[in-house]
Amino acid sequence: MGIGFGRMMQQFDLKDYLSTRKALVDSALEQLVPRPAGLQQSVLEAARYSLFAGGKRLRPILCMAAAEVVGSEPESVLPAACALELIHTYSLIHDDLPAMDNDDFRRGRPTCHKAYGEAMAILAGDALLTEAFGLVARFGLNYSPAAGSAATVLRVVEILARASGYQGMIGGQVIDLEAEQSEVDLETLEAMHRHKTGALICGALEIGALLGGGDAEQTQSLVRFGRHFGLAFQITDDLLDVEGDPAVMGKPAGSDQARNKKTYPAVLGMEATRAAARDHVVKAIEVLADFDEKALPLKEMACYLPNRKA
Ligand code: IPE
Ligand code: IPE
Ligand code: MG
Ligand code: MG
Ligand code: MG
Repeated sequence: MGIGFGRMMQQFDLKDYLSTRKALVDSALEQLVPRPAGLQQSVLEAARYSLFAGGKRLRPILCMAAAEVVGSEPESVLPAACALELIHTYSLIHDDLPAMDNDDFRRGRPTCHKAYGEAMAILAGDALLTEAFGLVARFGLNYSPAAGSAATVLRVVEILARASGYQGMIGGQVIDLEAEQSEVDLETLEAMHRHKTGALICGALEIGALLGGGDAEQTQSLVRFGRHFGLAFQITDDLLDVEGDPAVMGKPAGSDQARNKKTYPAVLGMEATRAAARDHVVKAIEVLADFDEKALPLKEMACYLPNRKA
């Protein structure tokens, strides 16, 4: 079925959709992530400090949207969606460390290592990563047999590991760090973005499709959408580092250039970078022609990327 969204288009309010979904994620995270107490008090405080600092919750929202596209309820994938956010928040805490990007602000407040010290920030990140897998395992143990099988949950674990580890986000972070000391071509730059940011976004869509009961073809289409969405997202992140407002972004601008980061603007210039972002948005939207009007939120999210301010 084509994506002739017609009448629904006028009724869809992206801002409202995103804030409703973000609230859903925030309240699930509040319930699923332990309160600071006992021996773990300080590390949980540090983890929650970064987790509840006001992120957009994009990856969980994409995960829920994918589940919806294939005909499931967004709430049914919430624990897995939250696991994605734990992994993402861990990646931000470690990304900001002095040994990595050395940034002092994140999500509108001092970075985790500024507030709790470097060692505790490393441990808070480690705790979030580990807890993400624990959360999925507990979800598996409570999973209703009607909704899926243990094998499905094991596949979720495999996707999360692939998306966040050396084949995914970590692999991209390695390219990012090594590229500070060398020149890169466009192919390497794209690979870096695909891994450091695209992989977890693709993982979010794949997990949503899988848990939502999508078939292999639908899942592959959503992953293909995620590839272009993820690239457009990181390319616009590069643009925001040049021209964004730190007060709106909740993180500094100008730190890429200061650290000799290889970004799309550094390699291509601003205009060609904007064109690359738009190109990936167009390609992402093209993929959605495989779906019906339930793909409208994904379409609207993709369309918004070139204009995003945070
Ligand atoms: C920031 O991600 C890091 C990148 C991968 C570009 P987000 O822009 O999704 O950050 P939050 O979660 O809203 O803070
Ligand atoms: C981050 O890329 C990708 C991650 C895996 C965290 P950036 O280093 O550009 O992200 P920001 O700009 O610090 O959020
Ligand atoms: Mg970085
Ligand atoms: Mg960074
Ligand atoms: Mg950046």
